[in-house]
Amino acid sequence: MRGICSATFTIPSFLFIVFLVQLLVRKKKKEKTRYRLPPGRRGWPLIGDSFSWYNAVAGSHPPQFVQQQVNRFGKIFSCSLFGKWAVVSADPTFNRFIMQNEGKLFQSSYPKSFRDLVGKNGVITVQGEQQRKLHGIASNMMRLEKLKFHFLDDIQLVMLQTLNKFDSNQVILLQDVCRMVAINLMVNQLLGASTETEIKEMARLFSDFVDGCLSLPVNLPGFAYHTAMKARERIIRKINKTIEKRRREGSSEGGNGVLGRLLEEENLPDNEVADFIINLLFAGSETTAKTMLFAVYFLTQCPVAMQQLQDEQDSLRGDWNGVGMLAWQDYKAMSFTMCVIDEALRLGGIAIWLMREAKEEVVYQDYVIPKGSFVVPFLSAVHLDENLYKEATTFHPWRWMDPANQEKRNWRSSPFYCPFGGGARFCPGAELSRLQIALFLHYFVTTYTWSQLKEDRMSFFPSARLVNGFQIRLTKRHVTDSTLPSQN
Ligand code: HEM
Repeated sequence: MRGICSATFTIPSFLFIVFLVQLLVRKKKKEKTRYRLPPGRRGWPLIGDSFSWYNAVAGSHPPQFVQQQVNRFGKIFSCSLFGKWAVVSADPTFNRFIMQNEGKLFQSSYPKSFRDLVGKNGVITVQGEQQRKLHGIASNMMRLEKLKFHFLDDIQLVMLQTLNKFDSNQVILLQDVCRMVAINLMVNQLLGASTETEIKEMARLFSDFVDGCLSLPVNLPGFAYHTAMKARERIIRKINKTIEKRRREGSSEGGNGVLGRLLEEENLPDNEVADFIINLLFAGSETTAKTMLFAVYFLTQCPVAMQQLQDEQDSLRGDWNGVGMLAWQDYKAMSFTMCVIDEALRLGGIAIWLMREAKEEVVYQDYVIPKGSFVVPFLSAVHLDENLYKEATTFHPWRWMDPANQEKRNWRSSPFYCPFGGGARFCPGAELSRLQIALFLHYFVTTYTWSQLKEDRMSFFPSARLVNGFQIRLTKRHVTDSTLPSQN
């Protein structure tokens, strides 16, 4: 009797359990069919799509590879890059989602060789709480009031020293000049004023360092990466010496520059101070130099825009105190120049894409992104999307004057225009770089006119060595009274 009872009890229980398991399996299956990996191809075994990717970004039109994949698979697709599974996005909303979830679902990801060079304790390479702290300090160092009081005059002094020295008829390679300007700006603004010999020495070290960041990571003599590692050591020694001197001699020495203010206002350990400065140097020099170069290049191809920019710059009052320095209100009056800078950033694609890694399995719309995959918000593909920008590959600065584009233009919050990234890693140097580029354009176009010498081979890839041959012949402008603004 007891046997029958227990049998009648176990059979329904058993059936119920089977039913539950089936339900769970079906649910899992359903979920699996609802969420799928972003579509894409795997390319060649091991190599994947790395070559196609590299060819496209090193060529003259980086979003080309992405565009081909978007046409086949849609705006979010997958491929295999550098031996890893990668999800690439040309979708503005998804790009924003990735940037907004920095530190939560995604985190920035760089190879070890790069982290060794720029420093393990710098804002670019650290994560979580430490990143938020250093990012806050960087934003504070370069906020608007500091630009007005500390940077405006210093930038102009650097421009006067570096740009005034060319003669009429002199032929220059513009990429070299822009690089020299950007590096000198960094030496001046990060370390503060020094003697001319010191500036020259630091500029050489900074230049070697930046070269290494953009080269093959081979740490052997003769390779740019190795030279950059050596330059890094010497820059750190110089920074540590400045810190010591400052501690010995009190607060007035080294008061200039981000380093001086950092020591005065913040409380970072010495090794973090050095990495902090080196991170700013890396993030701020090549990006700014390249935007200056692209702005002049695009203006040279578009004489109407060139004329309008020159008229605007000629009309600025300046305080005409003998060296012709501009005041903050002059900077604020450069409305067309700002359109030129925005257009150079959109079209030039200085930060073409961002590098992220999925911290956990992420579900986005119908897609599932496996933990550990590369995630690449491809900013340039959005900036050059014909559906978002009419004649997207044409330099047309006036597009930014159109009231219909004002929301799109807001580079702090717009998903359609993010040359400075977004979210927790939004570029803390964005305002500073705009000020630097605007002042560069001012001093360049008010001092010289120029003509292009030979057919250039411009590339959008942000490596100075690939932007070949933008050679120009300068003519010094004779600024007559009629071109100077009236002084009433
Ligand atoms: C036209 C010039 C510039 C462009 C286009 C640019 C672009 C960017 C972009 C896209 C990011 C985000 C990277 C990411 O999310 O992974 C970034 C981050 C950063 N930028 Fe800039 N940048 C420029 C100039 C500067 C300057 C002048 C400085 C400072 C001197 C600077 C300092 C930084 C730093 C420190 C970060 C890292 C922030 C963090 O990870 O928390 N940038 N920049």
